[in-house]
Amino acid sequence: MTKHHDALNDLNKHIPLRNKLAAAHESIRDVFPFIARIAIAIYDPKTTLLKTFVHSSGDDNPLDHYQALLEDAPSLKAILDKGLPRVINNQLTYEDSEHEHTRRIGRQGYAASYTLPIFSDGNFIGFIFFNSYEKDVFSENALSQIDVYGHMISLMVINELTSIHTLTAAVKTTGHITHTRDPETGSHIDRMSRYSRLIASALAEDYDLDDSYIEHIFMFSPLHDIGKIGIPDKILLKPGQLDDAEAAIMRTHAHKGREIIDDLIRNFGLENVEYMNVLRNIAEHHHEAVNGSGYPAGMQGDQIPLEARIVAVADVFDALTSQRPYKDAWSNEDAIATLHELAGETLDRDCVKALIENIEEVEQIQKQFVENNYG
Ligand code: C2E
Ligand code: SIN
Ligand code: SIN
Ligand code: SIN
Ligand code: FE
Ligand code: FE
Repeated sequence: MTKHHDALNDLNKHIPLRNKLAAAHESIRDVFPFIARIAIAIYDPKTTLLKTFVHSSGDDNPLDHYQALLEDAPSLKAILDKGLPRVINNQLTYEDSEHEHTRRIGRQGYAASYTLPIFSDGNFIGFIFFNSYEKDVFSENALSQIDVYGHMISLMVINELTSIHTLTAAVKTTGHITHTRDPETGSHIDRMSRYSRLIASALAEDYDLDDSYIEHIFMFSPLHDIGKIGIPDKILLKPGQLDDAEAAIMRTHAHKGREIIDDLIRNFGLENVEYMNVLRNIAEHHHEAVNGSGYPAGMQGDQIPLEARIVAVADVFDALTSQRPYKDAWSNEDAIATLHELAGETLDRDCVKALIENIEEVEQIQKQFVENNYG
């Protein structure tokens, strides 16, 4: 009982999800020491991708940076279809599985697992995985208690995602009047957020990025141009080149974006949601240039937060390959040639390389999120 009480306290505290999960894992381990890993994967209904999100297993996470189509994970899909948790008390046979994620779990030596689906208002959000190195540990009796923890962990995850959705919704409401006039359509947002995630994932190994950071870049990159809300139509929708005075006003969108985000974070009490600095940096610094010629701060190279360097490449590539009031859409070939020229000048070399090396996935994103008249 006291254990549950402690874990509930942790749930209510404003601490990052990762730390809440670590605290919950500690409480659970006091009772069930055999639980070596708790991991959460979240689901993107638009692409049906299931992505590892956060885990509490120290350094050995066999599924870091892993994503799979739900269709390609039949045993997970079965959990969803039946709406029931899955218990595996002897996973050793899984080394033979034809599914990569199952083999990776097998290689890690997990012998048993318990998997719960997470639902919020009837919508499928993702899965919680409890893994053990020992077999036959998930008895009926243990499971009835682990379910209680599972439910609390679900609430933590929903709470975290709801904060982010609340913020995104608030931004949409704030921008409601401007929404229809925004030349950056919904499909621009769909594409550039996925390019951003693609770049971050490609850099993950070398830059030691964790899945939670990558997923937050994906969730926050749609807000990069929030500051354009403050730019008059006459400038934002101008069909031709901006003159110097207009361009100077246009450039204020980066700093305005930072101010709007700061306001929203204050007004919605989101100060303690993890990665709020990632959001601030994306809004304020996505037009910095690695040679120092960018705005608003004129930062150079690594001074520019990584999330801003990533989003910059995604944004420029999508701006080039899309139609704007002031320009036609370019071919991917021409856009890539320009990215090569900009690499090391305005754009970060590694981020450019990451996008170009994954051009097949870029093309798939383009195919899936085609421009239409409604955005
Ligand atoms: P945006 O349309 O989303 O473009 C984002 C960034 O993509 C631009 O940032 C720029 O770095 C890059 N980009 C877009 N088009 C081109 C291009 O034809 N060639 C090259 N080399 N890069 C390109 P930037 O320049 O700081 O502009 C920020 C925002 O200002 C743009 O966002 C757009 O909303 C507005 N803007 C920029 N130039 C013009 C213009 O000539 N006319 C109008 N109406 N708006 C403009
Ligand atoms: C899976 O976990 O995705 C599949 C397991 C299996 O059917 O081998
Ligand atoms: C996981 O445990 O992270 C997914 C693998 C599975 O149990 O199907
Ligand atoms: C798009 O902007 O919709 C994609 C452009 C392309 O397919 O090259
Ligand atoms: Fe911008
Ligand atoms: Fe943009």
